[in-house]
Amino acid sequence: MANTISASLTLNNPFIFIMIQSVKGTKDILPDSVGYWNFIEDLFRSISQKYGYGELRTPIFEKTEVFHRTIGEATDIVNKEMYTFIDKGNESITLRPEMTAALVRAVVQNGMMNQNPLQKLWYFGPFFRYERPQKGRQRQFHQYGAECLGSPNPESDVEIITLAKDLIESAGVRNFKILLNSLGSKASRAQYRDELTRYFSSKTSELSDDSRTRLGSNPLRILDSKDPKDAAAIAHAPVILDFLDEESRNHFDAVKSFLDTAGIEYEITPQLVRGLDYYCHTVFEIQCEHLGAQNAIGGGGRYNDLIEQLGGKPTPAVGFAMGIERLLLILEQNGSLPTSRQSIDVYIITQNEKHRLLSQKLASGLRKAGISTQLDLLRRSMKAQIRDANRLNARFCLIFGDSEVERGCLTLKNMSDSEQKEIPFDNLDLILNEIR
Ligand code: HAM
Repeated sequence: MANTISASLTLNNPFIFIMIQSVKGTKDILPDSVGYWNFIEDLFRSISQKYGYGELRTPIFEKTEVFHRTIGEATDIVNKEMYTFIDKGNESITLRPEMTAALVRAVVQNGMMNQNPLQKLWYFGPFFRYERPQKGRQRQFHQYGAECLGSPNPESDVEIITLAKDLIESAGVRNFKILLNSLGSKASRAQYRDELTRYFSSKTSELSDDSRTRLGSNPLRILDSKDPKDAAAIAHAPVILDFLDEESRNHFDAVKSFLDTAGIEYEITPQLVRGLDYYCHTVFEIQCEHLGAQNAIGGGGRYNDLIEQLGGKPTPAVGFAMGIERLLLILEQNGSLPTSRQSIDVYIITQNEKHRLLSQKLASGLRKAGISTQLDLLRRSMKAQIRDANRLNARFCLIFGDSEVERGCLTLKNMSDSEQKEIPFDNLDLILNEIR
């Protein structure tokens, strides 16, 4: 209703402009908090390098097929959440809802596995899912992720889990737990799926509408349901760990014993199936109690068939991704966000308009010498400029007052102790000596 009124107002009177709000489920990252994002990205970049992972960037949109073919037709992401549109060339395009499929597309397309049979890659960027926004859940959100392609061995599963734990702890998160499960090989999953279908078919009256629909298309997804109506049936459902074949059991046992040796605690969670269909063998999720309903800070697992599905040679792989908004929410609640108050080195204060050129020249010289320098662009009074310097947390002010300029000088004021000195304004080296 409100929108209709404002729309007709603007139609009748073209001089009334209404403020356009951002799209629901998206957030602006303002200068006050962008420091937190840089802190996390820098920290994660340096930890990824220590583990030998290289950064990969892909386009924000892909052909829809990349995600359709891999994430699974019967998943919520593909069914309900993808931002898909037909572009002007009549091609179906999707804003990436996750990175794994896009990264595999890039690895295959660029022949990266031919250059090196082991590819260890990380990424950081925005992703898009049309979900119901709530705390920790947005329509545009950000993920850090790492993927290790080429190794079938449990050591690579453990490296990914260790990396995930290391990143989360280094960022300052404490109360989290790692849930672990195995989805086994294709054969063991098929057998389990049959058994699960049989079991849930005998319980249809106890299931929610959504779960009844999933029974036909993807019964494993029922285990993921948060609907209280499904809880009792899920609690007594057969568990996949009883259906693992020998190879799957050996892989899972090896992952667990590597984790035990590394002293990494985990909880075996047989109901953990994850929301994407490409997983096999190891799956894991990292949950944090501070997050409320959206308690998963990150998750991942093995995906041995995905590379072949996207046209590459059969290649085993494992990876994980973490939600940055959720991570920052936890750090904010813990009070462990680093201070993001920025400071500058120098603020140049000018009393008289005719000295503005001098200020500009000095600012250029200082910036070229690596000194962060600001000057007043609003032609304010000296008092207001000093207030601005304080707001910007300036270490020094360089003051071009009329009397100083007449004598070829400027005043250097140290803002921490208010000490003042006069310096010839054409002697940049002397100024640099004083402020460095
Ligand atoms: P995912 O579990 O769908 O996995 O997403 C990983 C993390 O991204 C979640 O644990 C959560 O922290 C964050 N996340 C997901 N959706 C949202 C949202 N709407 N708003 C805020 N945060 C969100 C994947 O995406 C897989 N690609 C992970 C992976 C990598 N598996 C193997 N390699």
